Amino acid sequence: MSLLIIGGTGTLGRQIVLQALTKGYQVRCLVRNFRKASFLKEWGVELVYGDLTVPETIAPCFKGITAVIDASTSRPTDLASLKQVDWDGKLFLIEAAKAANVKRFIFFSAQNVEKFENIPLMKLKYGIEQKLKESKIPYTIFRLTGFYQGLIEQYAIPILENLPIWVTNENRSIAYMDTQDVAKFCLRSIQIPQTINQTFILNGLKSWVSLEIISLCEQLAGQTGKIQPVPLIVLKLIRNFFGFFEWGQKISDRLAFVEILNTENNLDKSTVDVYPLFKINSEEIIQLDDYFLEYFIRLLKRLRDINFEDVQKQKNLII
Ligand SMILES: NC(=O)c1ccc[n+]([C@@H]2O[C@H](COP(=O)([O-])OP(=O)(O)OC[C@H]3O[C@@H](n4cnc5c(N)ncnc54)[C@H](OP(=O)(O)O)[C@@H]3O)[C@@H](O)[C@H]2O)c1
Repeated sequence: MSLLIIGGTGTLGRQIVLQALTKGYQVRCLVRNFRKASFLKEWGVELVYGDLTVPETIAPCFKGITAVIDASTSRPTDLASLKQVDWDGKLFLIEAAKAANVKRFIFFSAQNVEKFENIPLMKLKYGIEQKLKESKIPYTIFRLTGFYQGLIEQYAIPILENLPIWVTNENRSIAYMDTQDVAKFCLRSIQIPQTINQTFILNGLKSWVSLEIISLCEQLAGQTGKIQPVPLIVLKLIRNFFGFFEWGQKISDRLAFVEILNTENNLDKSTVDVYPLFKINSEEIIQLDDYFLEYFIRLLKRLRDINFEDVQKQKNLII
């Protein structure tokens, strides 16, 4: 079976690529920058040039493909607009997948998309879910929670660098997941016919509020975080202000996610009931404490190595 993966250089996409290769799939990645994607080639991936904002580059990538896994989304730093990638690009992708008669289309959406018409990315995700269902392509949609990987930038690094951490005072807990586990569900679904034309909500086993995550990082780092509480109303005002300007749209979208997390939602509910269908045991799921422990151990080892190298360099200079 040959897989076409879009977004292979991304946080989730690279985990899917790695696990797909380990399982012996032939993997092709649609990438827009060969240099950036060179690590995928080293892993054994076939790279093809493609850009979701350049429609004519999409269809040729589908030659000989059995299933497509779309783990792409617009980067906040990109010049292309959210609509160009997460709407127009995805419509071209669905059209090309249909023409290529693929046996499965896996799409990653977000939870509660139907409730947030006012948030552009959520609205587009919901729209693409509908278009995919209408396309008659056998599909599997995963509505995801937040990733552990995002928490490093949000909490661990600011604590290590003594930078402020903004937390809203309306704290809700979220059952985050490791992208390695999301990738596992994704690849299992290809093997399980009962997952065809289904939408699954994926959450981790345990939910966490920001202050618990901060406390965990503080313990592991041996440092205290600089917590800056921000009332949600202030965040909403900032979001509305940025939303007035086209250049501020991406900032506004980012802030919108904080708003989502602080609205009544089901992001704290464990979804263990879907695990058996995927033949996944809850003991296999990576826990947030273990994920952070491994991150800090690796980081501290790296810092020790750098220190050692510096001392050696200084000794050599002195000699
Ligand atoms: N992060 C979360 O917490 C979260 C939560 C819920 C759902 N999701 C969904 O999960 C999926 C994976 O998210 P992620 O955080 O892993 O994404 P990510 O790390 O931001 O990666 C985005 C990927 O999309 C690619 N891409 C962007 N624009 C493109 C274009 N014009 N043409 C082709 N490729 C393009 C990027 O390629 P380059 O490397 O070239 O930029 C990159 O590989 C997305 O559908 C996202 O919406 C994520």
